[in-house]
Amino acid sequence: MQKKVIVVKIGGSTLGNHDTTLEDLVELQKRGKCLVVVHGGAKVSTEWLTRLGIPTSFVSGLRVTDAETLKVVAAALGGLVNKELVVAIQALGGKAVGLSGCDGNLLWASVKSPEMGYVGEIVAVDPTPLKLLLKAGYMPVVAPVSFGSAEGRVMLLNVNGDTAAGEIAAALAAEKLIFLTDVDGIRDGSEQTVHKLNLAEAKDMLASGVASGGMVPKIEASLRALTTTKVVRIIDGRAAHALCDDVSRRARQSKSGGTTIVSE
Ligand SMILES: Nc1ncnc2c1ncn2[C@@H]1O[C@H](COP(=O)(O)OP(=O)(O)OP(=O)(O)O)[C@@H](O)[C@H]1O
Ligand SMILES: [Mg+2]
Repeated sequence: MQKKVIVVKIGGSTLGNHDTTLEDLVELQKRGKCLVVVHGGAKVSTEWLTRLGIPTSFVSGLRVTDAETLKVVAAALGGLVNKELVVAIQALGGKAVGLSGCDGNLLWASVKSPEMGYVGEIVAVDPTPLKLLLKAGYMPVVAPVSFGSAEGRVMLLNVNGDTAAGEIAAALAAEKLIFLTDVDGIRDGSEQTVHKLNLAEAKDMLASGVASGGMVPKIEASLRALTTTKVVRIIDGRAAHALCDDVSRRARQSKSGGTTIVSE
């Protein structure tokens, strides 16, 4: 039987190597943990769109994606960001293979809504390539660029990294899904971090509008993951060794920061 997997979504704050997240991933791999990494890269994508003079906008945390934006986002995330992460992990002594949602049929999507352009909503996940890599001792590093049918042909689609992470965790029945981001968890209406949420409370955060922008796809992805995954954590990836602490027993025994979302 396959070992339980931890899915780690790394966001913009980690890309650029300013924190200890990549060291932590390598350390956990050395300790025998099965890790699947899914990355975002909103900041890098925006930087390249700006350089190319392409205006960009977000609706509920998702980037409105026209044909030109799609090309730039696919190049930035599937190319530059993914390869820089893989090289950095290898340089630290880890074993990593980069792939996107297009590779090995991993993430099949459809157009989410015509107003959003080529933004994909995941319809099917084939986790076979991830399982093969894990079995061979590699850490898969997934760029969320996906593919699916649109306008009568099969083409690339832009999927949010949180969405991809949630679907992958659900498909793998992961032990845990951890979102590393640039805030210490989900904040309530008084700007206080909420330590624990169940499904109904998480849904309320969306319905009330307390969670907005980039937090929306994280909560939606958490709800999806929790169909099979036991626990979701949303933590501050900028804090030193946040990832190792969260995975190790230390975090469970002591009062850890961040938000925990569970089914019950
Ligand atoms: N209730 C909330 N609690 C905490 N953060 C919130 C809340 N509502 C909105 N946010 C925003 O969500 C942001 C995190 O999502 P964001 O998409 O910016 O980062 P990321 O997903 O980690 O990175 P990337 O999009 O590059 O993968 C926070 O910086 C904050 O501005
Ligand atoms: Mg985001």
